Amino acid sequence: MGAGAPPPDVKAQGKKILVCVSGGIAAFKVVVVVRSFAEMGADVRVVMTRSAQHFVGAQTFAALSGNPVSTEMFGSGADVPHVELARGADLTIVAPATANAVAKMALGIADDLFSAVLLTVRSPVLLAPAMHTEMWEHPATRGNIATLEKHGVTLVGPSEGALSSGDSGAGRMSEPDEIVRAGLRALGRAEDLAGVRVLVTAGGTQEPIDPVRFVGNRSSGRMGFAIAREAAARRAKVTVVAGATSAEPPSGVELVQVATADEMRAAVLERAPECDVIVKAAAVADFKPEEAVERKLKKASGPPEITLVPTPDILAELGSRPGLRKARSILIGFAAETEPDPGRLGLLAEEKRRSKGADVIVANDVGSSDSGFGAATNRAVIAGPDGVTDVGLVTKMALASALIERISQLLKERRKL
Ligand code: PMT
Repeated sequence: MGAGAPPPDVKAQGKKILVCVSGGIAAFKVVVVVRSFAEMGADVRVVMTRSAQHFVGAQTFAALSGNPVSTEMFGSGADVPHVELARGADLTIVAPATANAVAKMALGIADDLFSAVLLTVRSPVLLAPAMHTEMWEHPATRGNIATLEKHGVTLVGPSEGALSSGDSGAGRMSEPDEIVRAGLRALGRAEDLAGVRVLVTAGGTQEPIDPVRFVGNRSSGRMGFAIAREAAARRAKVTVVAGATSAEPPSGVELVQVATADEMRAAVLERAPECDVIVKAAAVADFKPEEAVERKLKKASGPPEITLVPTPDILAELGSRPGLRKARSILIGFAAETEPDPGRLGLLAEEKRRSKGADVIVANDVGSSDSGFGAATNRAVIAGPDGVTDVGLVTKMALASALIERISQLLKERRKL
């Protein structure tokens, strides 16, 4: 996915940007990142690991940033160098982020200046991983990346392409201009949803058959939670209406727990008149047993006959009855499709956008193990009033970020009307 254009009103001038460089061949590309931000008038501070200095000399970064480069915990003259460096940072960029750097960040290890700074810093953190494909795909790295995303770290890349080993594959660090654009977006994102009320539904509904059995699905809540996390990071006031989930819910949001489609409908409709944005990422059962029996069905009684009836279609109701929502609010639905082809996904998204009366539909492929229900990644297109964007296969956090970016633009346009 491309990093997209930065919001036009974002300025790097006067911002304190920490660039933390770990030891990978891609360190040479970070020179351009540092120079770009320095040229925009940012106060750029570079922290390097020892191994990073095998790839680029500290003098190069010092000359380009106009500031001394920090490499050691002791002997710099500062009393507590990691705290001094981290304090007041507006943005932290970790590039290249090696597998080792990612693992240390995920575990909170602070055994050198680089890792101690990253444990101390409170600014938004952008991570540009760079490693060989096998390391990127290893379950340990996948787990570490998931942990960092849960902590609110934003990923830039990696992309697929030529690697230092001579191979080609996933793990190549994003290009410098992509990192700079993501940095500018992160600088601009701090406030852009301030005062905006966002409601996100997440997880799956469970429609009871008897006291212990239900009709349900495998939604983990990951997608909805990622959207809630991203919106909250951009200062929105977020409510999550969650069905059954297995993922960890975000902090700093209101969490309303429901079980069935009817309960989800009631919780959403109650809050809809106050919400500027409603995102329906939950997997709502389309059908429920006509009647839930009060006592557990006995095996000895033989296979039960269960009559299913439709559940209320919450998205369609919100889309067809504008009076239920705040004026000029934005309605976003998801479409779960077993369709990997982005062109066809786009057509299905457009079709659902029209039939449900939504402003935006995110159509995701739920037919493969790396996308949709329970997966860490998602293959999706976003269809809105301004056309269809193929986001590709990305982490759910990256999809959430692309979606919130689209929502932010739509909000700005509607406010101008
Ligand atoms: O939770 P994860 O494990 O991360 O998985 C994420 C996800 C695959 C569940 C998510 O990305 C997703 O696709 N959510 C929508 C699933 C779904 O119900 O799709 P649908 O095509 O059946 O429904 C279309 C839209 O209508 C959805 O926004 C849904 O929330 C809404 N709907 C559906 C039925 C219903 N009775 N009421 C609704 O509001």
